[in-house]
Formats: sequence, structure tokens, C-alpha cells
Amino acid sequence: MSDAVVSEAENLANTSRRKFLVGATTAMAAVGAVGVATPFVASWHPSAKAKAAGAPVKVDVSKILPGEQIRAEWRGKPVFILRRTPEMLESLKAISNEVADPNSEQPQQPAYAANEARAINAEIAVLVGICTHLGCSPQFRPEVGAPDLGDDWQGGYFCPCHGSKFDLAGRVYKAVPAPTNLLVPPHSYESDNVLIIGVDEETA
Ligand code: FES
Repeated sequence: MSDAVVSEAENLANTSRRKFLVGATTAMAAVGAVGVATPFVASWHPSAKAKAAGAPVKVDVSKILPGEQIRAEWRGKPVFILRRTPEMLESLKAISNEVADPNSEQPQQPAYAANEARAINAEIAVLVGICTHLGCSPQFRPEVGAPDLGDDWQGGYFCPCHGSKFDLAGRVYKAVPAPTNLLVPPHSYESDNVLIIGVDEETA
């Protein structure tokens, strides 16, 4: 093959390579643009999973026996739902002097739950099950006078991480690491037996 023919062949090859490179660069730019744009598109349109994670949760409370607690999950957090007995409600009065914020003056609950029972319906406690110290999950300890919690223990919640104690309304005892009462989430009742966690008149 002559030098000229080789040069022609090289020219042709070089031209093709240039075209390929230009095309490839354009394609890369498009991919790059899509890659950059995607997170914004994703944030403009939250996924069904993300929507579901923040959605209200309905709970049928009719099956909860007096003195029994069940757990729900709302926004990835445990929510304790306890049906208090008359004795349990009475115990709240008895220990008002031992808890740090007996009248719910700290904003740990919606206004409609700023009462002694910290509830819309005094019988049903609805509490976010996360300790207000460093976020452990307190244990439900309803046994009055439990040996490990003291003779004067009236039932409530005990956090095993650093020993914080809360009563059956989630009110924190004095002189424990947790600084505030357990949170009461926004909630409402669709009917006598259907509790909705995450929606109330203010957030509806
Ligand atoms: S996390 Fe509950 S006492 Fe520290």
C-alpha cells in the first residue's frame, strides 16, 4: 500500500474517530445533564414510599384491654397506645409531686393534650415511645411497686439506657436524665374506636 493510500486511510480513520468523539461527548453531556437533574426531579415528586412513611396511621383501639398497651408505628417512630384503668388514672394524681412537669407546661404535646392525663380521651394514652434523653425506647412497666423500681412505683415507663422514669401519662420523674415528658403526637378520633395518629384539627 502506498504512503498516500495509507494517508488517505489514516485521514478517513481520523475523521471517523473525531466524529465518534464528538458524538460520545454529546452523549456524555446528555447523560451528565440527566444525572444532575434526577435528584431535583426526585425531590419535586416524592415517591409513594416517602408519602406512605409520613402518612397518618389509623388504629382500632376497641380491642385494647384495660391496662394493656399496643404499639403502632408512625413516621418510623414507635407510638405507645395504652388503655388506662381507673386505678391507673388515679395514680397520676398521686404522683403529681414527683414528676417534673405535672401540668404539661413544656410543649411536648398538642394543646388538646395539655391536661393531667395528657390525652383527648383520658382512658387512652398516645405517646411517642422514644426517651427524651438520648432516644432509647422506654419499657412499659405497669406493675405497681415493682421491686427494681421502688415501693412507691405506680406503674409507668422505664428507660433502661440511663434510668429515666415516666408515669403512665409519659410525665418524666424529677431527678432523672430525661429533661422532658414523652411526646404526644398529633392525633384525633375518627370515631369512638378509631384513632388517627398524625392528623388532628390543626394539621388536617
Ligand atoms: S436515653 Fe433514656 S435515659 Fe438516656
